[in-house]
Amino acid sequence: MINRKGIILAGGSGTRLYPLTLAISKQIMPVYDKPMIYYPLYTLMLAGIREILIITTPRDNEIFKNLLGDGKKWGMTIEYKIQESPRGLADAFIVGEEFIGDDPVALILGDNLFYGENLQRILTRASSRVDDATVFGYRVKDPRRYGVVECDAEGNALSIEEKPEEPKSDLAIPGLYFFPKGVSEIAKNVKPSARGEIEITSVQEAYLNDGRLKVEKLDRGMAWFDTGTHDALLETAQFVQTIEKRQGLQVCSPDELAYENGWITRAQLKELAQPFMKTDYGKYLDDLAERKR
Ligand code: DAU
Repeated sequence: MINRKGIILAGGSGTRLYPLTLAISKQIMPVYDKPMIYYPLYTLMLAGIREILIITTPRDNEIFKNLLGDGKKWGMTIEYKIQESPRGLADAFIVGEEFIGDDPVALILGDNLFYGENLQRILTRASSRVDDATVFGYRVKDPRRYGVVECDAEGNALSIEEKPEEPKSDLAIPGLYFFPKGVSEIAKNVKPSARGEIEITSVQEAYLNDGRLKVEKLDRGMAWFDTGTHDALLETAQFVQTIEKRQGLQVCSPDELAYENGWITRAQLKELAQPFMKTDYGKYLDDLAERKR
C-alpha cells in the first residue's frame, strides 16, 4: 500500500495581487464560494492523499490553522510548517523533509485549480507510480509564462524549461507534481537560479536526466487555472460559479469528497453542514447527507 503524502505550498508574497494581499494571504482569497486553498486541497484528496502538509508564510500560518484545523473533520491529518522566505518551489521539499519521511509525495501550488471528468483516473495513475516522477502537460496559447515540457508518444519527458523565450512545445507544466521518495535530498542539491530561487524545474531535470520523468497530458476537456493575477482570480471564480449554477453540483468541495471517499460518515457530513445552513453550500452538503442528491 502506497502512503503518498501531499504538500500544499501556500506561501509567497502575492505581489501580483496587491493591494488585495497586502495584509492577508493570496491562498485564503475567495474563489467564488470557497477559500482558494480548498481547491488544491480537493485535488490532493482526489488523488487519495490523506496526510497533508500546508506550507505558509510566518504571517499567515494561524489563519490557515483556523480555517482547516488538524483535518480530523474530513478524516485526514493536516500539519503546518512555515517557510521563512520565498526561496523557491523546490524549498517545499526541504521545509517538508521531516513530514515526507521515506514516502513518495505530491506537491501542489496553493493557487492552482484543476477540474475535469478524467482527473481522478489520471491522478490515481500518477500517484501509483512510485519509482518515477510525474508532471502534467496542459496545452496553452502562451507557454512562455510557465514551465514547459516536451515529451515522446510514450509520455517520457524529453526536455524541461522554466519560462523559455522559445518554447519547444505548447505544453505548460501545471503546479502539481508527483515525486518518488528521496526528493528532499535532490532539492537540497539544487543551486539557486538567476532569479535567486531553487526551481522546481531543476528537481524535475534531475529525474529527467535519470530517465525517470513521466508526463501525463491533460486533455482539452480539462480546466486548469492559476489564480495569481486579478483577472485570473475573477475568471476562475466565474468558471466555478457557472458550473455550480448550471449543474447544481459543487466544484471542489472537500466536505463532499471526504464523504465520497468514505473518510467521514453520513452523520459527520450532516454535522459539517450545520454551521453553513444559511448558504447554498451548507444546504448542498445537508442534501447530500439526506441522500436527496
Ligand atoms: O502555475 C504553474 C507554474 O508555477 C509552473 O508552470 C512553473 O514551472 C512554476 O515555476 C510556477 O511558476 P510561477 O511563476 O507561477 O511561480 P511563482 O513564483 O508565482 O509561485 C507559485 C506559487 O507558489 C505562488 O502562489 C506563491 C507560492 N510560493 C512561491 C515561492 C517561490 C511559495 O509559497 N513559496 C515560494 O518560495
